[in-house]
Amino acid sequence: MINMSSEEEASQTSSTSSSPHTPSSSSPPLSSHFIGRKEDIVKAGRMTKLVNGCRDILVLHHQGRLHAMDMRCYHSGGPLQHGDIEEFNGLLCIVCPWHKYKITLAGGEALYQAVDDPTAKPLRTRWCSKGVKQRIHKVTEVNGDVYVTLNDSSEAIESDVYQTERYRTNSLKAQPEPKHQK
Ligand code: FES
Repeated sequence: MINMSSEEEASQTSSTSSSPHTPSSSSPPLSSHFIGRKEDIVKAGRMTKLVNGCRDILVLHHQGRLHAMDMRCYHSGGPLQHGDIEEFNGLLCIVCPWHKYKITLAGGEALYQAVDDPTAKPLRTRWCSKGVKQRIHKVTEVNGDVYVTLNDSSEAIESDVYQTERYRTNSLKAQPEPKHQK
């Protein structure tokens, strides 16, 4: 579930990326959220931002396109901002750094390789989809500013589980305290 409030905070990570985004328009969509300057996202490759004080969003720039999705992996909450981007079956995917699940940038579908006949040698595999598992959000660019409109579809998507305030608070608590420099 997506809550609506106003607090926002930002952090940046490094790397590359892409997602269906609306190129330039004259004004940001109503109820969209400012993420950052496009040039900064392009330079960093990725940017994460807490939107509405409740939902961590990952915005990626890859091969000239911007993509936005829930930051934590639908499988077990892995940090997708640290995942590599690779192409599988002709689809660009982010590969979760925790258990290597593959999620399409464009649709949030989870891809896996199915084995046709486990007794046949050599094994023959084919790519299949488990369906949409990661919530994808809409990106809009206005005069070099990048905005995200949250996908507020009422249909539950598995990544929602890891976007709750409770999970966020617990996962932040579980992180080790930063070491103080002497
Ligand atoms: S948490 Fe992402 S693959 Fe397991």
